[in-house]
Formats: sequence, C-alpha cells, structure tokens
Amino acid sequence: MKIFVLAENGQLGWELCRTLAPLGDVIASDYPQVDLQKPETVINLMRLEKPALFVNAAAYTAVDQAETDHERARSINATGVGVIAEECKRIGAAFIHYSTDYVFDGKKGSPYVESDETNPLSVYGKSKLEGEQLVQQIGGDYLIFRTSWVYSMRGQGGFIAKVLQWSRQQETLRMVTDQVSNPTWARMLAEATAHIVSRGQGYMAERKGLYHLAGSGFASRFDWAKEILELDANRHEQKTKELLPALTADFPLPAERPLFSALDCSRFESTFGMKLPDWKAALRLATQ
Ligand SMILES: NC(=O)c1ccc[n+]([C@@H]2O[C@H](COP(=O)([O-])OP(=O)(O)OC[C@H]3O[C@@H](n4cnc5c(N)ncnc54)[C@H](OP(=O)(O)O)[C@@H]3O)[C@@H](O)[C@H]2O)c1
Repeated sequence: MKIFVLAENGQLGWELCRTLAPLGDVIASDYPQVDLQKPETVINLMRLEKPALFVNAAAYTAVDQAETDHERARSINATGVGVIAEECKRIGAAFIHYSTDYVFDGKKGSPYVESDETNPLSVYGKSKLEGEQLVQQIGGDYLIFRTSWVYSMRGQGGFIAKVLQWSRQQETLRMVTDQVSNPTWARMLAEATAHIVSRGQGYMAERKGLYHLAGSGFASRFDWAKEILELDANRHEQKTKELLPALTADFPLPAERPLFSALDCSRFESTFGMKLPDWKAALRLATQ
C-alpha cells in the first residue's frame, strides 16, 4: 500500500512515518514543500504519487496566534483539508485526518462523545471543526480522529519540555487545575492508527466516520505536570520545590480554551477492538 503522510516533522507526523513504515511504501512531506494554503502543491504530489491512503497530520496548531491569524488558520485547517478530501475521493484513496477536543466548549461536565454538540470557543477550534465538516460533506472513505493534549518527547516546544525547562528555572511552579482533558502520547496515537491501517482499506471503509481517540482517563494540567516532574529521570536537576494549583483566569491568553474537554473514546475502542492505554501508563513509557 502506498501511504502519503503529510507533516513528517510534526509531533504526530514523525511518529506516523515510523509506525506506518512496515505497512507499505510511505511517502512523507511537510511544509513548505506541501503548503495547504497552496492547493496545487498537495494536488500535484497526490496525482504524481497516487497513494492508496493519505494521512494528514498537518495543521495550524498555534492556538493563541490563530486569534489574529484567522485566514491562515482557516485555509490550513479547513479549506486545505477539503482539498485533500476531494482529491482522495477522486483517486479512490482512503483519508485519515485528526481533529481536536477544542471543537467543544468544555461546559458538559463529563467526557464528550462523538454525538455531543460542538461549540468551539477559539478560532483554532472553529477552523478544525470546519475541516471535519468539509471531510464529512465531501464523503469518500475517511476516518477522522478527534484527539486531545498531544505530546511528544521530541523537540522543545511541547508541554513536557516546557514543564521540565521551568522546573530547572523556578522554585515555585503554578499549574491550572480547572483545565481537564486526556494527555495523549503522539506515538500511541500513531500506533493506534497503524493497527487500523494494517487491517486494510476495506476494513477502514466499512468503519468510516468520526471517532474520539486519546489517552485513557483524564487529568488537569496540574495533575499532568505533577506526573511529569515525578517521572523526570534527572530529578536532581529540578529547582522546583513546590507545585501550586492555579486557575485558568490567573493566566489570561488570547484564545479561550474549553475547561473540561475530556474525550470519551469508547466508540473507538468498541469499533476497532482496541484498549487505549491509560494516560499515566503511556507517560511512564514515553519518559523511560
Ligand atoms: N498538539 C495538540 O495538543 C493537539 C491536540 C488536539 C488535536 N491535535 C491535532 O493533531 C494533529 C497533529 O498535531 P501535532 O501536535 O502533531 O501538530 P504539530 O506538531 O504542530 O505539527 C503540525 C505540522 O503541520 C505543518 N504545517 C503547518 N502549516 C502548514 C501548511 N500551511 N501546509 C502544510 N503543513 C503545514 C507544520 O509544519 P511547520 O512546523 O513547518 O509549520 C508541522 O509539521 C493536528 O491535526 C492537530 O490539530 C493536536
């Protein structure tokens, strides 16, 4: 199977390239070779390579920046995604795409299921929701996986790297207790995707649709940071002596986040016969 992975350098895309490699001929690309703001860059490559499966891990993920960069966020997360979905349908390729818990407003008070009403609070959330809707309208053999709080052990930009960096600099760390969701290891997400891909195009087509796919269980940013500090292999380097609870309102940011946006992944687990690992167990594996 020829598999096209977009965003080979992103947190998820990098893991996808590794986990999908044994399943076929993986062709990977990223910005700027493929720029979702320039549809011809993705269409030309798809027509040249004719993949049987396109996996899109590209997105405009700068949640706060999107508030003042509305057009760019929308053209990458919505219009560009629609272009891929159209082309996949035209060439008969399956399409796997990822979305976000930020399509919800976080006011439900318990984990969200796929049929719950969406109400994004941010430009990023709105643009991702529009992307989902375009894929669904266009049809074809698509799988959309809504995920949450994705982390990777690569790079310095993610939550884990930031917590570890702050722990080397600050005696007191303050983390919010009122933002709650599912920390999700990018590798786990890629492995779950690969399990599905390994069953073949027919299997995916029979199960086309939108699913929640994230680390099992949920945590606040405070719980997550506490676990990161405890699992730190170089704890002796930490300067942090106390981790204090804080509220989202204490740290005003341009984009409003949903407070309780945990995802209920039982539809995914029953449809694909998988048990998603508990977020703490995954974090332990990731940090070893
Ligand atoms: N990170 C999270 O916490 C989180 C939570 C929920 C859902 N998700 C979703 O999960 C998926 C993967 O996220 P991630 O964390 O792996 O994202 P990421 O690490 O930020 O990677 C995004 C990738 O998209 C590329 N990209 C940006 N603009 C592009 C453009 N115009 N054309 C083509 N590619 C472009 C980026 O390239 P450059 O680096 O060169 O810009 C980067 O390689 C996304 O759909 C995201 O919305 C993420």
